[in-house]
Amino acid sequence: MADIILCKTSDIAPGSVIRVEHGELGLAVYNIDGTFYATADRCTHGLSSLSEGSLMGDEIECSMHFGTFDVKTGAPTGAPCSIPLRTFKVEVRGDDVVADI
Ligand code: FES
Repeated sequence: MADIILCKTSDIAPGSVIRVEHGELGLAVYNIDGTFYATADRCTHGLSSLSEGSLMGDEIECSMHFGTFDVKTGAPTGAPCSIPLRTFKVEVRGDDVVADI
């Protein structure tokens, strides 16, 4: 486990998501009403990138088959997704979004 800087807080507008790469790991980083969250970017149902999906409140909808996950917990919330997403602890330090990877 190590803390890494994912991005600046200003890089993600409220209600949006971006992809951040750390080595071979791809993360989806979300801004939900000013609070930041990070999950694995790859949908557990297939090969789709969740950062290309639609963020609706606390849920991300995959653009491939429209399954959904709770961004805060990684729990699948809509078919066909049934396997939880990996989530990462995130905090803001100054204007950096930092995750424990
Ligand atoms: S690849 Fe994401 S719902 Fe199928």
